Amino acid sequence: MASHPTLQVIYDEHGALSAVLRSIGLLLSEHRRRGSLPDFTVLRAMLFYIDEFPERIHHTKESELLFPCIRARSAEAAEVLDRLDADHAHSALAVRELEHELLAVEMMHEGPDGAARRAHFEHAMDAYISGYLEHIRTEERVVLPLAEKVLTPADWAELDAAFMRNRDPLTHRAGDDAYRPLFKRILMTAAAPIGLGPAMEAMRGSYRARGTAAATHTRT
Ligand SMILES: [Fe+2]
Ligand SMILES: [Fe+2]
Repeated sequence: MASHPTLQVIYDEHGALSAVLRSIGLLLSEHRRRGSLPDFTVLRAMLFYIDEFPERIHHTKESELLFPCIRARSAEAAEVLDRLDADHAHSALAVRELEHELLAVEMMHEGPDGAARRAHFEHAMDAYISGYLEHIRTEERVVLPLAEKVLTPADWAELDAAFMRNRDPLTHRAGDDAYRPLFKRILMTAAAPIGLGPAMEAMRGSYRARGTAAATHTRT
């Protein structure tokens, strides 16, 4: 378990997001290899999830709460934090663009530029996935250890209260009922062995190994 609830929430949310990103990459490369069309329903559901939670809630909590707190206590990672804030602003727009491009592939794949649209979408998706996984690695290797070093108990009390609200429902069992159908769709529609199923199984295995029902953190 992480030393503060805020850190555990961040690790858990990174774990869920990493699993979804990797599943999208595996799904696309498997269909590319087979020369078949991917399951658009599950891809749309996974991109919608990324737009709805990591982009709107996870990033907002980092950029508006955690990063300002760290900046107030130390200038050590100022440039890294600026870069991560810029990533947050950029990737919120990028995921919207990807959602549109995916829809274009689904609607237009039989047209004369269908192959080009698909190649463009897959290239942009791969860049988004690798950029995001690198972003997560930087936060876990640089930012979170610095937070542990410089934040005060009062800082943590404030952050913990905020981070325990609006948690990503993919990371804990008491999720928001409104989103249950979305997550069921993601978990059930993705075809094994390339869907989200294996990733979630791996995460469940990591819960059991750590003896907690709530944590889904899989470090990248
Ligand atoms: Fe971030
Ligand atoms: Fe993050």
